Order: sequence, then C-alpha cells, then structure tokens
Amino acid sequence: MIITIDGPAGSGKSTISKMLAQKLGISFLDTGAMYRAVTLQILNSKTPIAESAQMENLLDSIELKLDGGRIYLNGRDVSGEIRAAEIDRNVSKVSELRSVRVKMTALQQKTACRRDYVCEGRDMGSAVFPDADFKFYLDASPGERARRRAEQLKRNGMLASIDNAVLARLKDEMIERDRQDTARELSPLTVPVGAVVIDTTGLSLRDVLQKIVSSVDKK
Ligand code: DC
Repeated sequence: MIITIDGPAGSGKSTISKMLAQKLGISFLDTGAMYRAVTLQILNSKTPIAESAQMENLLDSIELKLDGGRIYLNGRDVSGEIRAAEIDRNVSKVSELRSVRVKMTALQQKTACRRDYVCEGRDMGSAVFPDADFKFYLDASPGERARRRAEQLKRNGMLASIDNAVLARLKDEMIERDRQDTARELSPLTVPVGAVVIDTTGLSLRDVLQKIVSSVDKK
C-alpha cells in the first residue's frame, strides 16, 4: 500500500506523515530530505547548480540511505545539516534539474515497492506514485506556515528567538520557494488528480491525522 502526502513547505506534511506511518505501523519516506541531502553535497563540493558532466558524476557518487527517520549521505548522518537556511535557499533550484529528479524518482520508486509506505513530498501523488492507494494534499496559509517553520528552526537550535522580522523573512522565503516549486517545468508542486485536499490552517495535528485516518478507513 502507498499513501502519498504532498503540499508546500510548512503545511504540516512531514509531521503528519510520520504520525500516520507510526499509527498504521508502516514505513515513512521523506523525499524532501533526499533533495536536501543532494543539495548539501552540491554546495559542499561547490558544484554549479546546472546540468553538466560534473553534476552527473556527483549524482553517480551519491549514496543515500533513509533509516529510522535519519538520512545518511555516503554513510554520514546529515539529518541536522540538511535543515540549514543555506539548504532552504538552494534546494528548489537543485530540484528543478532533470538529472536530479530522474535519480531521486528512481530511488523513491525502488524503495517504496518493497514495503507499505507513507510517501511525503511535492510530486508523490502526481508523478512518482500516480497509482497510489490514497492521496492527500495538505496546505495552510503562508503566515501559519512561516510560524511553524520558525518553531521548527527554534526547536532544532537554528534560531535563537522568534519575532515579527523573522516571521516576515521566513514568509517571504517560503512564498519564493512555493513559486519556484509550482512554476518549475518538471513535476511541479500541484494537487494530484484524486487527492483529498486538507487546509490545515487552525487545525491541530490530531485533527489533521483524524481526517486522514477516517478518509482511509472509509475506503
Ligand atoms: O519538504 P521539504 O521542505 O523538505 O522539501 C525541500 C525541497 O525539495 C522543496 O522546496 C522542493 C523539493 N522537493 C521536490 O522537488 N520534490 C519532492 N518530492 C520533495 C521535495
């Protein structure tokens, strides 16, 4: 069984996907973390973000492993590093590259064909798993999404305090990332055909989880 959960940054899809997978006793695939890990490797190696032989070589040399909620890049746990602001600023540009998407899509399909999975990302229900058993699309207002992102950064020790200037900056960055993710040519962020759309603004995580579980139960 495959359940896809797509949506923009800060829509709550990562947390909800993890909770749902745990509740159903199945695995969880965080595909945003995969694009972030590739971005980390590109930035560390100072590879220009463009299609090139150098990019092909870099992609061939990358080994990604997702295990127990952690992500390993060539054997190194990079779960913390991939949440840095520098990655936020570059990941959309990296995820526009055909070579990157081809590699990530193949890896995601290969991983999820082995077991039951909740797959979370931007193109799970639309491009990677169009025949998924259940598809959901989560959204929330930009203000609420910026607030959630700020809290996440603070929890991870990447933000000392939250004020209006921080929230305004995060909101602007988020809107720009949405623009890039929805406007790109390949597998843009979109509501997949057949997806149940949930606006999570003002809803608790429990409420959203409940809506998803009851939709799955109904079927
Ligand atoms: O969900 P996230 O913020 O960790 O995702 C980071 C970026 O990765 C997002 O801005 C676009 C890209 N991404 C993608 O293009 N396709 C996916 N399936 C998942 C993420």
